[in-house]
Amino acid sequence: MAQNKIFFNTENADIFVNNDDINNFLGRAEAAKKVLLDGRGAGNDFLGWVKLPSQQESDIISRIHKDVERLSPMCQLFVVIGIGGSYLGARAVIEAMQSEFAAIDDKRTAPYIVYAGHTLSEDYYAQLLPLLDRFDYGVAVISKSGTTTEPAVAFRIIKNHLEKKYGKEVARQRTIAITDACRGALHTIAQQECYSSYVIPDNVGGRFSVLTPVGLLPIAMAGFDIDALLEGAREAQQLYASAPAKENAALRYAAYRNALYAKGYKVEMLTNFTPSLKYVSEWWKQLYGESEGKEGKGIMPHSLSFTTDLHSMGQYMQEGERTVMETVVSVSHSHSRVQIPSDEQDLDGVNYLISKSLTDINHCAERGTIEAHRDGGVPVMQMELERIDERTLGHLLYFFEFACGVSGYMLGVNPFNQPGVEAYKKNMFRLLGKKM
Ligand code: PA5
Repeated sequence: MAQNKIFFNTENADIFVNNDDINNFLGRAEAAKKVLLDGRGAGNDFLGWVKLPSQQESDIISRIHKDVERLSPMCQLFVVIGIGGSYLGARAVIEAMQSEFAAIDDKRTAPYIVYAGHTLSEDYYAQLLPLLDRFDYGVAVISKSGTTTEPAVAFRIIKNHLEKKYGKEVARQRTIAITDACRGALHTIAQQECYSSYVIPDNVGGRFSVLTPVGLLPIAMAGFDIDALLEGAREAQQLYASAPAKENAALRYAAYRNALYAKGYKVEMLTNFTPSLKYVSEWWKQLYGESEGKEGKGIMPHSLSFTTDLHSMGQYMQEGERTVMETVVSVSHSHSRVQIPSDEQDLDGVNYLISKSLTDINHCAERGTIEAHRDGGVPVMQMELERIDERTLGHLLYFFEFACGVSGYMLGVNPFNQPGVEAYKKNMFRLLGKKM
């Protein structure tokens, strides 16, 4: 059932906000949802993502499957070139789903995904190129504007390598372009080279594009089930558009975070006890940071992975400035079990744990942490997922997108633009002597 995919638990945040406040903010969330669904708010030319799961064109999905069937057997590596919204959604799902050790797993059946175009570090490319000499590979170059410097530079380098390695014709067959329908340099290159190409719809902004070919193609190439991902997102779309505010996890999340922000909690720490969710946090940071951080306003999105980071940032979370709220993404079930062996001498003192699974122990660490943070003055919200699979991730991604649109409108900003991102580019181009 859709309703079981995410359980939003506020029992450790409720002592920080009173009931009247929450009811007031829930009312505002409901109103913001209506503005979003009616397309009456700022940035309403970028609302294509809202109905994307239910309106996904089946011929695009079959083309993705065909490209994957064609390229996957030829590629040990697959390079995803993109930055920001053009790679973080795919990386979030791929890293959540794949083995932590996929890079060295010789039983892997799909190409290993490597990323480029998200950095200008020279050493990064100097380290990548020798791998591209050794392994067979293909490329997806992804840029909505088709003009972003980082992926343009990376594609120039990798296209050159690919053509030298395989010749122009085979290089062409190994390249996929995902970009605007008619604008931008990447569109021109893709047309000229006759690459297999996909369009990023005009009305879907980069950070809301994970359920377009931007996310779907790399996720499918990595061997994961994009039909199940979309199914989860469809369930979420239906649920969050229709459920009344008090039973609507997305509206409740938007209401709580805004109510807490109004009380001075300026930072939201997204935490998990499952390290494979690290890139879900990275994707979430872009989604909320770029959508809300404007006009001198916005909750600062930050993230930590526990228990690892309890041994580095745990002190701050427990006793630092009390302006931090926390949202824990909890996972109820792991996929497999590892037994802690019994030891006759028990010198390390862990025999008392042998009847428990590591998941039970991790859950105790999680419960203990949540209670400690709450008692130390951190309001803690919890997003409880049953397990990590494509359907749940599809639901989670849509949940965060929907809550983000609602929350941005509640804050009074246009959640769908990012004017501030231009400032560094302007300075960089001046310093590089680019002719404008
Ligand atoms: O959300 C956004 O629109 C941005 O973060 C973009 O995703 C990012 O800047 C990459 O842009 P592009 O896809 O045009 O290369």
